[in-house]
Amino acid sequence: MLLLLGRRVSLSFAKRVRTCHPPSPSKPALVNFNQIHSDTRHRLRQRGRPFVRLPTDVYPVNYGLCLKPDLIDFTFEGKLEAVVEVTQATNQIVMNCADIDIITASFAPEGGEEINATGFNYQNEDEKVTLSFPSALQKGSGTLKIDFVGELNDKMKGFYRSKYATPAGEIRYAAVTQFEATDARRAFPCWDEPAIKATFDITLIVPKDRVALSNMNVIDRKPYPDDENLVEVKFATTPIMSTYLVAFVIGEYDFVESQSSDGVTVRVYTPIGKAEQGKFALEVATKTLPFYKDYFNVPYPLPKIDLIAIADFAAGAMENWGLVTYRETALLIDPKNSCSSSRQWVALVVGHELAHQWFGNLVTMEWWTHLWLNEGFASWIEYLCVDHCFPEYDIWTQFVSADYTRALDLDALDNSHPIEVNVGHPSEVDEIFDAISYSKGASVIRMLHNYIGDEDFRKGMNAYLLKFQHKNASTEDLWDCLEQASGKPIAAVMSSWTKQMGFPIIVVDQEQVSDDRILKISQKKFCASGPHNGEDCPSWMVPISICTSEDPACTKLKVLLDRPETSITLNNISPDQWVKINPGTVGFYRIQYSSSMLESLLPGIRDLTLQPVDRLGLQNDLFSLLHKQADMQEEKNRIERVLGAISAPDLIQKVLNFALSVRTATALSSIYQSYNPNPKHSQFLLSIDDW
Ligand code: BES
Ligand code: ZN
Repeated sequence: MLLLLGRRVSLSFAKRVRTCHPPSPSKPALVNFNQIHSDTRHRLRQRGRPFVRLPTDVYPVNYGLCLKPDLIDFTFEGKLEAVVEVTQATNQIVMNCADIDIITASFAPEGGEEINATGFNYQNEDEKVTLSFPSALQKGSGTLKIDFVGELNDKMKGFYRSKYATPAGEIRYAAVTQFEATDARRAFPCWDEPAIKATFDITLIVPKDRVALSNMNVIDRKPYPDDENLVEVKFATTPIMSTYLVAFVIGEYDFVESQSSDGVTVRVYTPIGKAEQGKFALEVATKTLPFYKDYFNVPYPLPKIDLIAIADFAAGAMENWGLVTYRETALLIDPKNSCSSSRQWVALVVGHELAHQWFGNLVTMEWWTHLWLNEGFASWIEYLCVDHCFPEYDIWTQFVSADYTRALDLDALDNSHPIEVNVGHPSEVDEIFDAISYSKGASVIRMLHNYIGDEDFRKGMNAYLLKFQHKNASTEDLWDCLEQASGKPIAAVMSSWTKQMGFPIIVVDQEQVSDDRILKISQKKFCASGPHNGEDCPSWMVPISICTSEDPACTKLKVLLDRPETSITLNNISPDQWVKINPGTVGFYRIQYSSSMLESLLPGIRDLTLQPVDRLGLQNDLFSLLHKQADMQEEKNRIERVLGAISAPDLIQKVLNFALSVRTATALSSIYQSYNPNPKHSQFLLSIDDW
């Protein structure tokens, strides 16, 4: 049995492997469109035609949105009354719209007469609709009214139906939403781009015995005049926000409630009869909100936050502002039967989604190109938060054994990709939600935080959130704020990690010169397929920290390696002291020590003065280097000796024998990922006999 701790990519997301498309056909006319599948046809057409964002001549200020789902027929009726601003006279309004039928549309300029739209031209492939008016809409404010109908689909995106069984076993359906990245347009016609923010006044007309939730708190609930079985639930106006963060849920749920120390009402909604299973997430959320408020020095801006377990859910969780949706396994803990790794997972997911309430929701990426930052940042700070709230979990060790090593393994492959990729058409967004965005993104932010230091990092984060709150920002905007706060060349350092794929291997040798230790350090690209050849060898700006046996947990010296090689002098190091690079296993690189340096680390390994994460990092590097060294018997013996000291020798021997017989880096890393030398986590030990 192979027990994997790293669950960064949820089940449905595991399928989200990045696909590489062949280059655009240079002569599209030669392609026989009748012979290829319609999806491929769609893609080819998209490629030939560059993606264009929505025009800016009409933009929304406020959406008054009323939805009436039918949980029996799986349809919904909608009424949109949007306050819009016309910036340039036009007789057309272009919006996003998909799988929705518009019944009527009209525009009324402020204080003027209503004009009915005379045509709705759907551009299905672009998921847009153009509303045409008989005369020009003049510059200024106005109200756009649209009546429409749609289907409560079964595709787990947009406004969809989720099946559940009542405690008595009766099958029923809830109506729920999942809008990220570009599916709000399936619930209502809208400007579905992250930079087009507006406020929302949402009303839901629902059966009176159902729970109705949205981003904000309920401000009115009254009988629906046309049907005594229905009620009209009105929610408070939201802050200005992006469409992908809007959410509503209509169904049957129980809840547990608490108040966080900063006065926010927190509720965890569970299936009926399972309220008990929401208590752990409630504890996490009430601890997490004040942590972020304090860390960012910016309060949570809404009066409430709901966390809800949805029976049918494609992602692991979704950070809708004030109404976070989760798959059941990412939120519910059975106090009697759940194991500690399930608790840790719930704590991390809650920590991740609540971090987005600031980083993502309050300040939103300007375009999907910056999505890696949104997800990478949340995937790093979730650990910081869990470490603060539950120090007994020793959660950073798990970051190293799950995200960090996974990212190194994947990014060493020739078909990896840079973290930052340009996204044009929204269909490309799905392709970048992968372990490189999440795990490498989180790892390079962890390295950045360590390079800057917590105090300046927090200063920069606070400046960024205050400067861009209720607005949009790009990756460069964050680097600017961190650069200002720290006085360090953040943009230059970070671009070397985000704009090129891969990472370096740092080759280190040492020489004792009287009381000083001289380190010779160089970098080259690390490739799982063998040494990187070629003249255009990439290079990184590598923050390097160094510790010694005097205090293995403390960094003695920090340098920025901004060239292929350099020499560093460590003063006052006696010949019997060992020197180690990358204490805490924070730098996103592998290390190849000279034979003598490697051998000198043995006492620190044997007496356990070298921290667990350092032994873990060292062991992981050695495994990944081993297959390349397989022919050099002497070096192989040395590595085996060090590995043997880190772990149980007989187990290691079995792993080595197997690994050397297969000789693939992937096999090595997958064995290794399941092996954690920290005795606290021995439940994750892989049994080689099982394998
Ligand atoms: N924003 C994402 C969810 C998402 C991703 C929705 C892509 C639609 C498309 C959310 O914050 C997230 O990252 N969820 C993770 C869980 C998290 C703990 C890593 C997920 O769903 O796997
Ligand atoms: Zn996320």
